[in-house]
Amino acid sequence: MNQSSTLDDLYREIAPDLARVEVEIAASLADDEPVIAEMTNHASRFGGKRLRPALSLLVARAAGGITPRHARLGAVVEMIHLATLVHDDVIDGAGLRRNQPTVNAAWGNYEAVLLGDVIFARAINLLARLKDERALLSLTTAVSRLCSGEILQNRHRRDVALSEDLYYQIIESKTAELYAAGCELAAHLAGAPDLVLRNLSTYGRELGIAFQIVDDCLDLVGDEKIAGKSLGTDLEYGKMTLPLILFRNTSGPRERRLLESVISGGCAPAEEVRRLVSLLSRDGAVDGALARAREHVERASVAARRVLPESAWAPLEALGEFVIRRRI
Ligand code: IPE
Ligand code: IPE
Ligand code: MG
Ligand code: MG
Repeated sequence: MNQSSTLDDLYREIAPDLARVEVEIAASLADDEPVIAEMTNHASRFGGKRLRPALSLLVARAAGGITPRHARLGAVVEMIHLATLVHDDVIDGAGLRRNQPTVNAAWGNYEAVLLGDVIFARAINLLARLKDERALLSLTTAVSRLCSGEILQNRHRRDVALSEDLYYQIIESKTAELYAAGCELAAHLAGAPDLVLRNLSTYGRELGIAFQIVDDCLDLVGDEKIAGKSLGTDLEYGKMTLPLILFRNTSGPRERRLLESVISGGCAPAEEVRRLVSLLSRDGAVDGALARAREHVERASVAARRVLPESAWAPLEALGEFVIRRRI
């Protein structure tokens, strides 16, 4: 599958609205201070996939229609995401993002933390200008859950015994909450009733869970040149992600010792890491995790189908398919 063309096809129908999102983002990040402008230009030069604003626009269209306020909502969600990426790359010590050096690689951690704060502040400023209490409450709650998910993840660093429940709690908080809020609010601004809001929030949450599971697989078996970001940092950092949990639950004592050495041992030899990664593919742990991601995408579809007319299903399901098959 040519992945950018899949997204291009999906984005074609909402192109004018996505262009409005870009205008909102650029205006919000513009700065008179050269030190800030230099870094925000760098951080926003390459846009990333713009999946979250696209999702909000597609949901809005399906749930009653895109309004001028949806561009602002999309920009806020994307800027929150951008701020978390800037911080996340500090946390993960990552060097590459969106095919260019991370902010921390270019300017150091000190300034990357502060730039992330600037972008967060701009996002909240734009959110305030949306003048919608539900959006304010729901997105600020999503941001605080996002941070608590990252904290929980850090508490379980190098924890080979991490339960599947806790893993799900972590990814729901750090990734899926923002997807859920973006979808729920898109439906809200489109004037949809409560039942529709609830189901589209579920659609977003399930899609976000699937998205992070796939991301965790790509971190192990993806290609940095295709993904455009640093991979392999999860193992380095000792993050027990779903493929590793499935491997742990089914492997024999020798394989388990290898897993323990890589996850809890700190700086494992490159050879051990390579061996573990090849076992994860060979023994079906990566495929098992991808099958789980598919289940979540199916749940997302069920929720969307429950409240939307059949004519609205196709783009939302195509997005789900992209989430499962993506390499970028
Ligand atoms: C990466 O998100 C961060 C995760 C939640 C895994 P994306 O893959 O959507 O990043 P961009 O915006 O396209 O760069
Ligand atoms: C990031 O998770 C989740 C966030 C909400 C920032 P990852 O650490 O897996 O994201 P990538 O792989 O660096 O994009
Ligand atoms: Mg990361
Ligand atoms: Mg990742």
